[in-house]
Amino acid sequence: MSAAPTAQPMQRTAEDFRKVRKVTTHTLQEMKQAKIKIAMLTAYDYSLARILDDAGIDVILVGDSASNVMAGHETTLPITLDQMIYHAASVVRAVRRALVVVDLPFGSYQGNSKEALNSAIRIMKEAGAHAVKLEGGREVKDSVERIVAAGVPVMGHLGLTPQSIYKFGTYVVRATEETEANRLREDAKLLEQVGCFAVVLEKIPATLGAEVTQQLRIPTIGIGAGAACDGQVLVLHDMLGINQEFKPRFLRRYLNLYDTIREAVCRYCDDVKQGNFPAPHEQY
Ligand code: KIV
Repeated sequence: MSAAPTAQPMQRTAEDFRKVRKVTTHTLQEMKQAKIKIAMLTAYDYSLARILDDAGIDVILVGDSASNVMAGHETTLPITLDQMIYHAASVVRAVRRALVVVDLPFGSYQGNSKEALNSAIRIMKEAGAHAVKLEGGREVKDSVERIVAAGVPVMGHLGLTPQSIYKFGTYVVRATEETEANRLREDAKLLEQVGCFAVVLEKIPATLGAEVTQQLRIPTIGIGAGAACDGQVLVLHDMLGINQEFKPRFLRRYLNLYDTIREAVCRYCDDVKQGNFPAPHEQY
Protein backbone atom coordinates (compact mmCIF):
# COMPACT_ATOMS: atom_id res chain seq x y z
CA MET A 1 0.00 0.00 0.00
CA SER A 2 1.44 3.36 -0.96
CA ALA A 3 1.64 6.12 1.70
CA ALA A 4 -0.82 9.02 1.37
CA PRO A 5 0.94 12.12 0.03
CA THR A 6 1.82 14.53 2.85
CA ALA A 7 0.38 18.03 2.48
CA GLN A 8 3.10 20.54 1.57
CA PRO A 9 2.87 23.88 3.40
CA MET A 10 1.82 26.59 0.94
CA GLN A 11 4.67 28.93 0.00
CA ARG A 12 3.62 32.47 1.01
CA THR A 13 3.68 35.06 -1.76
CA ALA A 14 4.50 38.78 -1.84
CA GLU A 15 0.75 39.44 -1.97
CA ASP A 16 0.24 37.44 1.25
CA PHE A 17 2.80 39.62 3.00
CA ARG A 18 1.27 42.78 1.49
CA LYS A 19 -1.91 41.89 3.39
CA VAL A 20 -0.10 41.71 6.74
CA ARG A 21 -1.78 44.36 8.90
CA LYS A 22 1.27 45.16 11.02
CA VAL A 23 4.83 44.32 10.02
CA THR A 24 6.92 43.01 12.91
CA THR A 25 10.47 41.68 13.21
CA HIS A 26 8.87 38.25 13.01
CA THR A 27 7.26 39.15 9.65
CA LEU A 28 10.70 40.08 8.28
CA GLN A 29 12.08 36.73 9.41
CA GLU A 30 9.20 34.97 7.65
CA MET A 31 9.82 37.03 4.51
CA LYS A 32 13.43 35.87 4.41
CA GLN A 33 12.31 32.26 4.75
CA ALA A 34 9.71 32.69 2.01
CA LYS A 35 12.29 34.50 -0.19
CA ILE A 36 10.14 37.63 -0.39
CA LYS A 37 12.23 40.79 -0.59
CA ILE A 38 11.90 43.45 2.11
CA ALA A 39 11.41 47.07 0.98
CA MET A 40 12.74 49.74 3.33
CA LEU A 41 13.02 53.53 2.90
CA THR A 42 13.90 56.37 5.21
CA ALA A 43 11.42 58.99 6.40
CA TYR A 44 11.73 61.78 8.92
CA ASP A 45 8.32 63.46 9.00
CA TYR A 46 4.60 62.74 9.29
CA SER A 47 3.45 63.59 5.76
CA LEU A 48 5.96 61.54 3.79
CA ALA A 49 5.81 58.64 6.26
CA ARG A 50 2.05 58.52 5.69
CA ILE A 51 2.57 58.16 1.91
CA LEU A 52 5.23 55.45 2.33
CA ASP A 53 3.02 53.46 4.68
CA ASP A 54 0.02 53.81 2.37
CA ALA A 55 2.17 52.58 -0.54
CA GLY A 56 2.98 49.39 1.35
CA ILE A 57 6.59 49.89 2.43
CA ASP A 58 7.61 47.15 4.88
CA VAL A 59 10.08 49.08 7.02
CA ILE A 60 10.55 52.82 7.59
CA LEU A 61 13.96 53.83 8.85
CA VAL A 62 14.15 57.11 10.70
CA GLY A 63 17.80 57.33 9.72
CA ASP A 64 20.40 59.66 11.11
CA SER A 65 20.72 60.67 7.44
CA ALA A 66 18.18 63.26 8.69
CA SER A 67 21.33 65.10 9.69
CA ASN A 68 22.19 65.44 5.97
CA VAL A 69 18.88 65.70 4.18
CA MET A 70 16.76 67.48 6.79
CA ALA A 71 19.33 69.63 8.60
CA GLY A 72 21.92 70.17 5.85
CA HIS A 73 24.94 68.88 7.77
CA GLU A 74 27.81 67.35 5.84
CA THR A 75 27.84 64.18 7.97
CA THR A 76 25.48 62.24 10.23
CA LEU A 77 27.50 63.10 13.33
CA PRO A 78 25.84 66.33 14.54
CA ILE A 79 22.25 65.08 14.92
CA THR A 80 21.22 64.65 18.56
CA LEU A 81 19.12 62.07 20.36
CA ASP A 82 16.43 64.70 21.05
CA GLN A 83 16.29 65.57 17.34
CA MET A 84 16.04 61.88 16.36
CA ILE A 85 13.19 61.46 18.85
CA TYR A 86 11.35 64.45 17.34
CA HIS A 87 11.64 62.98 13.80
CA ALA A 88 10.76 59.47 14.97
CA ALA A 89 7.66 60.56 16.88
CA SER A 90 6.39 62.38 13.77
CA VAL A 91 6.88 59.24 11.66
CA VAL A 92 5.30 56.91 14.22
CA ARG A 93 2.16 59.09 14.29
CA ALA A 94 1.75 58.52 10.54
CA VAL A 95 2.32 54.79 10.36
CA ARG A 96 -0.23 51.99 10.58
CA ARG A 97 1.47 49.01 8.91
CA ALA A 98 5.25 49.46 8.55
CA LEU A 99 7.86 48.57 11.14
CA VAL A 100 9.50 51.82 12.31
CA VAL A 101 13.22 51.50 13.05
CA VAL A 102 15.11 54.47 14.49
CA ASP A 103 18.85 55.14 14.34
CA LEU A 104 20.71 55.65 17.58
CA PRO A 105 22.68 58.80 16.71
CA PHE A 106 26.43 59.23 17.07
CA GLY A 107 27.44 59.74 20.70
CA SER A 108 24.31 58.19 22.17
CA TYR A 109 25.61 54.60 22.47
CA GLN A 110 29.35 54.35 21.94
CA GLY A 111 30.28 55.17 25.58
CA ASN A 112 29.05 51.96 27.18
CA SER A 113 26.16 49.52 27.11
CA LYS A 114 24.24 51.35 29.86
CA GLU A 115 24.32 54.56 27.84
CA ALA A 116 23.22 52.59 24.77
CA LEU A 117 20.30 51.05 26.67
CA ASN A 118 19.21 54.43 28.07
CA SER A 119 19.23 55.95 24.57
CA ALA A 120 17.27 53.02 23.14
CA ILE A 121 14.71 53.28 25.95
CA ARG A 122 14.22 57.02 25.29
CA ILE A 123 13.57 56.29 21.59
CA MET A 124 11.07 53.55 22.40
CA LYS A 125 9.26 55.49 25.16
CA GLU A 126 9.28 59.05 23.80
CA ALA A 127 8.88 58.33 20.07
CA GLY A 128 6.92 55.09 20.21
CA ALA A 129 9.40 53.41 17.85
CA HIS A 130 9.31 49.66 17.17
CA ALA A 131 13.08 49.00 17.00
CA VAL A 132 16.46 50.75 16.99
CA LYS A 133 19.46 50.53 14.68
CA LEU A 134 23.10 51.06 15.57
CA GLU A 135 26.34 50.89 13.62
CA GLY A 136 29.25 48.55 14.17
CA GLY A 137 30.19 44.93 14.89
CA ARG A 138 32.15 43.48 17.80
CA GLU A 139 32.59 46.92 19.38
CA VAL A 140 28.82 47.20 19.99
CA LYS A 141 28.28 43.57 21.04
CA ASP A 142 27.62 44.34 24.75
CA SER A 143 25.27 47.18 23.85
CA VAL A 144 23.24 45.02 21.46
CA GLU A 145 22.99 42.27 24.09
CA ARG A 146 21.83 44.69 26.76
CA ILE A 147 19.27 46.44 24.57
CA VAL A 148 17.87 43.14 23.28
CA ALA A 149 17.72 41.79 26.87
CA ALA A 150 15.54 44.80 27.75
CA GLY A 151 13.07 43.73 25.04
CA VAL A 152 14.04 46.22 22.36
CA PRO A 153 14.62 44.82 18.84
CA VAL A 154 17.97 45.87 17.34
CA MET A 155 18.98 46.16 13.69
CA GLY A 156 22.74 46.11 12.99
CA HIS A 157 24.64 48.09 10.35
CA LEU A 158 27.96 46.96 8.80
CA GLY A 159 30.16 47.93 5.86
CA LEU A 160 30.22 51.66 5.25
CA THR A 161 29.04 53.00 8.60
CA PRO A 162 28.67 56.77 8.10
CA GLN A 163 29.13 57.60 11.79
CA SER A 164 32.76 56.43 11.37
CA ILE A 165 33.43 58.55 8.29
CA TYR A 166 36.34 60.36 9.93
CA LYS A 167 37.98 57.00 10.66
CA PHE A 168 37.46 55.78 7.06
CA GLY A 169 38.35 59.18 5.59
CA THR A 170 36.29 58.45 2.44
CA TYR A 171 32.92 57.08 1.28
CA VAL A 172 34.46 54.42 -1.03
CA VAL A 173 33.25 50.79 -1.15
CA ARG A 174 34.20 48.90 2.04
CA ALA A 175 35.48 45.34 2.55
CA THR A 176 37.10 44.94 -0.85
CA GLU A 177 40.23 43.58 0.89
CA GLU A 178 40.10 40.12 2.44
CA THR A 179 40.98 41.25 5.99
CA GLU A 180 38.11 43.71 6.16
CA ALA A 181 35.77 41.26 4.39
CA ASN A 182 36.60 38.55 6.97
CA ARG A 183 35.99 40.97 9.80
CA LEU A 184 32.61 41.86 8.30
CA ARG A 185 31.68 38.15 7.93
CA GLU A 186 32.55 37.56 11.61
CA ASP A 187 30.76 40.70 12.78
CA ALA A 188 27.60 39.76 10.86
CA LYS A 189 27.56 36.34 12.55
CA LEU A 190 28.20 37.93 15.93
CA LEU A 191 25.34 40.43 15.52
CA GLU A 192 23.05 37.52 14.71
CA GLN A 193 24.28 35.57 17.76
CA VAL A 194 23.72 38.46 20.16
CA GLY A 195 20.15 38.92 18.97
CA CYS A 196 19.94 41.45 16.11
CA PHE A 197 16.77 40.82 14.08
CA ALA A 198 18.30 42.14 10.82
CA VAL A 199 21.44 43.83 9.56
CA VAL A 200 22.01 46.63 7.06
CA LEU A 201 24.95 46.06 4.72
CA GLU A 202 26.15 49.32 3.20
CA LYS A 203 28.40 49.77 0.16
CA ILE A 204 30.21 46.44 -0.01
CA PRO A 205 30.88 44.14 -3.00
CA ALA A 206 27.75 42.32 -4.21
CA THR A 207 29.50 38.94 -3.86
CA LEU A 208 30.15 39.60 -0.17
CA GLY A 209 26.56 40.82 0.31
CA ALA A 210 25.32 37.57 -1.24
CA GLU A 211 27.62 35.43 0.90
CA VAL A 212 26.63 37.11 4.18
CA THR A 213 22.95 36.90 3.21
CA GLN A 214 23.34 33.18 2.64
CA GLN A 215 25.24 32.63 5.91
CA LEU A 216 22.77 34.48 8.15
CA ARG A 217 19.38 33.33 9.37
CA ILE A 218 18.33 36.95 9.98
CA PRO A 219 17.52 39.20 6.99
CA THR A 220 20.13 41.46 5.39
CA ILE A 221 19.03 44.85 4.03
CA GLY A 222 21.40 46.19 1.39
CA ILE A 223 22.28 49.69 0.29
CA GLY A 224 24.91 49.28 -2.39
CA ALA A 225 25.42 45.67 -1.30
CA GLY A 226 23.96 43.88 -4.33
CA ALA A 227 20.72 42.24 -5.41
CA ALA A 228 21.07 39.09 -3.32
CA CYS A 229 20.35 40.85 -0.01
CA ASP A 230 17.02 39.97 1.58
CA GLY A 231 15.88 43.57 1.25
CA GLN A 232 16.94 46.99 0.00
CA VAL A 233 16.98 50.44 1.56
CA LEU A 234 17.46 53.90 0.06
CA VAL A 235 17.35 57.39 1.49
CA LEU A 236 13.95 58.78 0.45
CA HIS A 237 15.21 62.22 -0.58
CA ASP A 238 17.82 60.60 -2.84
CA MET A 239 15.42 58.22 -4.60
CA LEU A 240 12.84 60.99 -5.09
CA GLY A 241 15.51 63.25 -6.60
CA ILE A 242 14.98 66.02 -4.03
CA ASN A 243 18.66 65.82 -3.33
CA GLN A 244 20.66 66.38 -6.50
CA GLU A 245 24.28 66.34 -5.39
CA PHE A 246 24.43 62.72 -4.20
CA LYS A 247 24.91 60.31 -7.13
CA PRO A 248 26.43 56.98 -6.01
CA ARG A 249 26.16 54.02 -8.39
CA PHE A 250 23.73 52.19 -6.09
CA LEU A 251 21.15 55.00 -6.19
CA ARG A 252 18.17 54.61 -8.51
CA ARG A 253 16.25 57.88 -8.91
CA TYR A 254 12.51 57.30 -9.31
CA LEU A 255 11.61 60.99 -9.65
CA ASN A 256 13.25 64.32 -10.23
CA LEU A 257 11.35 66.16 -7.52
CA TYR A 258 13.93 68.93 -7.32
CA ASP A 259 12.96 70.16 -10.80
CA THR A 260 9.25 69.45 -10.30
CA ILE A 261 9.08 71.43 -7.06
CA ARG A 262 11.28 74.22 -8.42
CA GLU A 263 9.01 74.61 -11.45
CA ALA A 264 5.87 74.72 -9.27
CA VAL A 265 7.44 77.37 -7.02
CA CYS A 266 8.46 79.46 -10.07
CA ARG A 267 4.88 79.30 -11.39
CA TYR A 268 3.51 80.34 -7.98
CA CYS A 269 5.94 83.28 -7.78
CA ASP A 270 4.90 84.43 -11.27
CA ASP A 271 1.18 84.12 -10.44
CA VAL A 272 1.56 86.15 -7.23
CA LYS A 273 3.67 88.85 -8.87
CA GLN A 274 1.34 89.16 -11.87
CA GLY A 275 -1.76 89.31 -9.66
CA ASN A 276 -3.08 86.00 -11.05
CA PHE A 277 -3.31 84.42 -7.63
CA PRO A 278 -5.72 84.33 -5.93
CA ALA A 279 -8.43 84.23 -8.63
CA PRO A 280 -12.04 85.25 -7.78
CA HIS A 281 -13.04 81.63 -6.97
CA GLU A 282 -10.11 81.36 -4.55
CA GLN A 283 -11.34 84.27 -2.40
CA TYR A 284 -14.07 84.69 0.29
O1 KIV B 1 20.70 56.91 8.14
C1 KIV B 1 20.37 56.25 7.15
O2 KIV B 1 19.62 56.71 6.29
C2 KIV B 1 20.89 54.89 7.04
C3 KIV B 1 20.68 54.20 5.73
C4 KIV B 1 21.61 54.74 4.73
C5 KIV B 1 20.80 52.73 5.87
O3 KIV B 1 21.49 54.40 7.94
